[in-house]
Amino acid sequence: MISLRKLLATASVASCLTLLSLPAMSQDFRLGLITPPSHHWTQAAQSFAETLNQQSEGRHSVSVFPAAQLGNEAQMVQQLQTGALDMAFLTVAEVSNRVPEFGAWYAPYLVDNIDEAAALLKSEAAESMFELLPQQAGLIGIGYGMAGMRQMMARTTLNTPADLSGLKVRITPFDPIRDFYAALNTAPTPLPLPAVYDALANRQIDAIDMDFDSILIFRFYERAENMMISNHMMFPMVGVVSARVWRNLSADDQAMITDLMKAELDQVIETFRLQEAEQEAELRSLNITITEADRDDFADSVAQWEAIWSEKSSSLGKLREAVEQIRQP
Ligand code: BEZ
Repeated sequence: MISLRKLLATASVASCLTLLSLPAMSQDFRLGLITPPSHHWTQAAQSFAETLNQQSEGRHSVSVFPAAQLGNEAQMVQQLQTGALDMAFLTVAEVSNRVPEFGAWYAPYLVDNIDEAAALLKSEAAESMFELLPQQAGLIGIGYGMAGMRQMMARTTLNTPADLSGLKVRITPFDPIRDFYAALNTAPTPLPLPAVYDALANRQIDAIDMDFDSILIFRFYERAENMMISNHMMFPMVGVVSARVWRNLSADDQAMITDLMKAELDQVIETFRLQEAEQEAELRSLNITITEADRDDFADSVAQWEAIWSEKSSSLGKLREAVEQIRQP
């Protein structure tokens, strides 16, 4: 008579053989993001979809949902956590709402310019912050992208930061930027990107916090004709995969997705780095009033921000050290 042990061993060999002979799993992933189809982030997502389809020889496809079609970023993160959404390109703003350590990325004047921002995002310090994501947010961080440095635009003249006092300033909805604008005595008004043009047009807000690229794409200068070039913050983005979805992918598929998505995100960083000066020149050629301000002009609000966030994010020191290394000749 065949023993139970032998039977189980035979069954498990048989099931292994069955698994080995199964064709590799194919999947149609969904990737969400808030930027419009013309934005570099969306184009990178589309390009990732094409290359993944090619490299997997048609096994995998990615449907890209731009312009917040699946909801705002907070809703997309919820969908990623349940596995209802597979992937997203998210502003680090939304990630920092879940994982306060990521608030360190928004230290005012953490970097001086877009080149330093690009180098910092590619540093080991940046990569190491992804370790926090699976447990604290149910996300796997694949790589960083970015948009341009943050500037300010208003319907009224901005000669110095004091001119912002009392204005309703549109901010991306997240705490570190709210604290910066609160320190400037403004009324920070959280609004997602797609709602900003109308809010300026109907005077719900007086000023905006924005990058050159979005100012040009959305033509915000039509509604706010005064720009203060302040370069006060960098604006990272992160490409993520749902941790629930990730667990069920083979090691080969995880490696393929990581390589291809990271390559697109690196390209996003490079595109923003290279276009920043050109876009500034384009804006300077328009019929708008432009002033400039730097770290010294914002010294008080920077100090207030530091007092709050050095407590909340221990990663600030790590990022600062990485910036120092980048600056070394
Ligand atoms: C913003 O909220 O200002 C923003 C979001 C995504 C890309 C660029 C800007």
